[in-house]
Amino acid sequence: MLGVCYYPEHWNEERWADDARRMRELGISFVRIGEFAWSRLEPSRGNFDFGWLDRAMDVLAAAGLKIVLGTPTATPPKWLVDEYPDILPYDEQGKVRGFGSRRHYTFSSDTWWRESARIVEIIAKRYGEHPGLVGWQTDNEYGCHDTTLSWGAEDLKSFKRWLRLRYQSTEQLNEAWGSVFWSMDVNSFDEVFLPNLTVTEANPATRLDFWRFHSDQVAAYDKMQCDILRKHSPDRWITHNFMGFVSDFDHFKVADNLDLASWDSYPIGFVEKFPFTEDERNRWAETSHPDIASYHHDLYRGVGKGRFWVMEQQPGPVNWAPWNPVPKPGMVRLWTWEALAHGAEVVSYFRWRQAPFAQEQMHAGLNMSGLDELSPGGMEAQQVGEELKAIAALPESGKAQVALVFDYQSYWTTMIQPQGKDFRYEELCFRWYEALRRLGLDIDFVRPGNSLEGYALIVVPCMTEVDVATEAALRKATGQILVGARTGSRDRNFVIPHNLPPGPLGERTGNRVIQVSTLRPGLSDAVAGEVSGAAIRWRETVQTTSNVLAHFANGDPALTENDNMLYLACWADEALLSDVIALVAQKAGLDTIALPDYIRIRRRGNLTFAFNYGTMAWSIPAGVTLVLGRDVLEPQAVSVWTA
Ligand code: GAL
Repeated sequence: MLGVCYYPEHWNEERWADDARRMRELGISFVRIGEFAWSRLEPSRGNFDFGWLDRAMDVLAAAGLKIVLGTPTATPPKWLVDEYPDILPYDEQGKVRGFGSRRHYTFSSDTWWRESARIVEIIAKRYGEHPGLVGWQTDNEYGCHDTTLSWGAEDLKSFKRWLRLRYQSTEQLNEAWGSVFWSMDVNSFDEVFLPNLTVTEANPATRLDFWRFHSDQVAAYDKMQCDILRKHSPDRWITHNFMGFVSDFDHFKVADNLDLASWDSYPIGFVEKFPFTEDERNRWAETSHPDIASYHHDLYRGVGKGRFWVMEQQPGPVNWAPWNPVPKPGMVRLWTWEALAHGAEVVSYFRWRQAPFAQEQMHAGLNMSGLDELSPGGMEAQQVGEELKAIAALPESGKAQVALVFDYQSYWTTMIQPQGKDFRYEELCFRWYEALRRLGLDIDFVRPGNSLEGYALIVVPCMTEVDVATEAALRKATGQILVGARTGSRDRNFVIPHNLPPGPLGERTGNRVIQVSTLRPGLSDAVAGEVSGAAIRWRETVQTTSNVLAHFANGDPALTENDNMLYLACWADEALLSDVIALVAQKAGLDTIALPDYIRIRRRGNLTFAFNYGTMAWSIPAGVTLVLGRDVLEPQAVSVWTA
């Protein structure tokens, strides 16, 4: 169940066999290679040098390692960029993003598609049947370094093509966008413009379409690669390594092409990336926040229709966050077990050995910089390798009790029109997730429109456009449902629904949102009733025909209930959110445990795993049979038991 990312091209060939042997000794079975190697595979157009990769694959396979080969499209070589500068991406200020790092391409360039198809086909043909090859990774981290959206001439060309297909006529486009508003009408698709460099805010409907267009391109580009790989390598699976807190494209759509999802887990790096308070950042600096990794495990298990890997696991300090602390002793092991607890099929560390050169020289590996000597993180991986030998196989990760409906488009719409500066979709989902996890509940992330049957509790933190399929899935669901503010607040054209928000859920909730207020940091509105706390950031004025479970200070409804659907008309502070989540869990008939905020548990089949992110010990429930660890869960420790 362990893997590692390896770059044979970084090391002298004489070292490969020994590296491979030591990987096996560590309990590693999978090795991912090749994803940045284009300049060494095709040093100039049409001149290929496959010798080294042939030999590397043979050496790794001979040691018994199973190989995952990356397509090298995240790093187009210099000669290609010089030959075809039209593949380069442009930032929102209209400036070109040049050669010299990675991901320097736009999904809009026809040249880039042709060149990608060419290199993927050549590699798929050459290695598609290699006995050591078990699977493929397409590209590397779509969207990394803000590369989903691009704002150049190629993008405008492709955007026009996409709009033509979507709207057929400019009358329909003008109608959908509300172009009449500031004389923004266009008379032909040639007149269409990019929604950047405008004097003030561009039309939100245009921006949403621009985002959708790029998202569709990522999925189509990935499919192009997958189709070629499947043709020449029909018996191997395909994945892509997604990222943490990157929501610029619809990952569910990309995963439609894949056999399984994977993601790159850098829990400590993400502490800086996520909008935590400074106190939280300091508290979790060396362990990460207890929900960061698991939130993504659950998201990507959903994205991968039940199947996911951690393709890159942080093995020590990283190099790319504003501050990069060493993880506390035990954390590399803990994160590995936690991923497995959430259903990961494989946890693969990034990287085998720290590179003494180039951009990531400050990034740890399982081996110290340039050496054949395990780093502290490497020793923890070794420990997991030993422990895994003692546990024959892990049971299937079954359906969770709770469904969280996660909607990429809601991230885009609330970014485009936040209304309150701190209305952040990902943060909202994370906080709801955190409140559920503190009660010891297991969570599945569900794609909008998918069935919600069989879940005791369904939460929709925010879904700005409730499409027909999701409305139907919510109607059929028999579990307890909690819907958050802003849900149903726009139609597909970014228009406020004629019956006012929550639009398609108006009848179901019995509510009409007649106005919305956003609150500056420091301002709040008290909420009291069956739950209590305060609204911060966002607060709606709701007219309702339903039961009111809690009110704002002036008597307006804050939490309403109609049949199995509750509607929360604000962004809840921590106290209110934990009350609301506890209330719906109880209405759903779920067994909950009030865990200390540094302890998390997760079930996988008949096994229960517990993780300690804190500084104090915790006693696991009495009367269970331990499979791993002890009944007193020390800081940074893991225990596993059967009931
Ligand atoms: C990932 C990326 C790797 C490496 C790593 C460093 O985002 O896929 O290639 O850069 O970060 O943490």
